[in-house]
Amino acid sequence: MSLSIVILAAGKGTRMKSAITKVMHKLAGRSLLEHVIETAKGLQPTNLTGVLGNGADQVRPLLESKSVIEVMQYEQLGTGHAVMQATQQFATTSQVLVLYGDVPLTQLSTLQQLLACGGEDSLRILTTKLDDPTGYGRIVRNSAGEVICITEQKDADQQTLAIDEVNSGIMVLPAKWLAESVEKLTNNNAQGEYYLTDMVALAVADGIVINTVCCEDNAEVAGVNNRIQLADLESHYQSLKAEELMISGVTLADPSRIDIRGKLTTGTDVTIDINVIFEGNVSLANNVEIGANCIIKDTIIGEGTVILPNSVIDSSTIGANVNIGPFARLRLGTVLADKAKIGNFVETKNVNIGKGSKVNHLSYIGDTDMGADVNIGAGTITCNYDGANKHRTVIGDRAFIGSDTQLVAPVTVEEGATIGAGTTLRKTASADALTLTKSVQKTVTGWQRPVKKK
Ligand code: UD1
Ligand code: MG
Repeated sequence: MSLSIVILAAGKGTRMKSAITKVMHKLAGRSLLEHVIETAKGLQPTNLTGVLGNGADQVRPLLESKSVIEVMQYEQLGTGHAVMQATQQFATTSQVLVLYGDVPLTQLSTLQQLLACGGEDSLRILTTKLDDPTGYGRIVRNSAGEVICITEQKDADQQTLAIDEVNSGIMVLPAKWLAESVEKLTNNNAQGEYYLTDMVALAVADGIVINTVCCEDNAEVAGVNNRIQLADLESHYQSLKAEELMISGVTLADPSRIDIRGKLTTGTDVTIDINVIFEGNVSLANNVEIGANCIIKDTIIGEGTVILPNSVIDSSTIGANVNIGPFARLRLGTVLADKAKIGNFVETKNVNIGKGSKVNHLSYIGDTDMGADVNIGAGTITCNYDGANKHRTVIGDRAFIGSDTQLVAPVTVEEGATIGAGTTLRKTASADALTLTKSVQKTVTGWQRPVKKK
């Protein structure tokens, strides 16, 4: 059995009222089309083709990055015409699955069920029942319940309009038969388009068996036409993700106030407060606590670590029993060993912070290798950038850096060194010694405060 998949994505999406072509609008941080491509790949097709037209330049880089074959449909003459453009890609395989680039939430299991509902030589349609079927193609059956055709809204009579079972648009067709018969489509209909749905009546005439799977969750087959529908599908997706998390043992303060834009992996007894956003690949070990309003992207967090509210963490690796925040910002390449502590208004980038070391208040620590049990006083800054190049700061175990210190890199603070408050360090601070750079305190008598000029 060989499977081709064709994703239709040439439509304009006028109702999005956007310069961005419809299939490139984002749901849960990824474009609509990327969702469809990822699901399609789950079926391991022999080939995967995207039909592009409107906004092709915007879509092309995605297809390239996902190794999806591109075919162009220069004029959008209908779904049948769109599939026709991909004939060369699917002709040599046994069956073709047609997906829509603007229907992002179809589950892999639903597609597997659709493929399995009939033999390779059958035509298989994913349908759904809608309370309000307006706008959709209706599934027309005979008295024996067999599908005889699909009739589009604009071509339907009153009796047909009353049918509540509709065409999702997702269909599997025998490939060789489709390649030959798609030429027979005409545009003799209300919209003057070549309808893919007319393949159903042609299949009936050719004695091809037709099977259907009726999808229970409407959201799986819902398309995005405007931004209201996009927002509806986003919240549907997020509520499914929240349910998955809770079922796997995560406590959510409010399942309607979490956003997962990527892949979140969790241990047991993880607690997540409200308004937390996860992006990319994030992994939380057992007993991790995430406070309100945190944004966490591409980060690994170890067991028992607590992230206090309003912290922003990107591309970091955080050990066990670490304390972060509130209001901390951890940037690319931050690596924290177990029991480290990063407090409020601290920014880190490209740093290794050793076990039990603390940066508790108002600091910037960048391009730094810090040992264990170091204490960094409030307001300490690593001056890592000379205007042209970045330089590293090295801080040994048990060093104590007084408040408001500037560490002008490249510079080294040796093990056990103590740096007095307000130091501007430009040379190595020796191990186990006290280093001071500010002058000894003196009192200037007769000094006058400046006064405002009239
Ligand atoms: C289509 C189906 C309808 C079904 C509905 C489900 C047909 C004739 N009708 O109607 O039975 O209930 O979807 O949402 O197939 N596209 C192209 N090239 C074209 C036309 C469309 O690539 O020339 C793409 C669009 O970008 C979109 C998809 O095909 O992704 C569906 O097109 P659309 O115009 O939305 O079809 P509907 O009228 O909604
Ligand atoms: Mg549509």
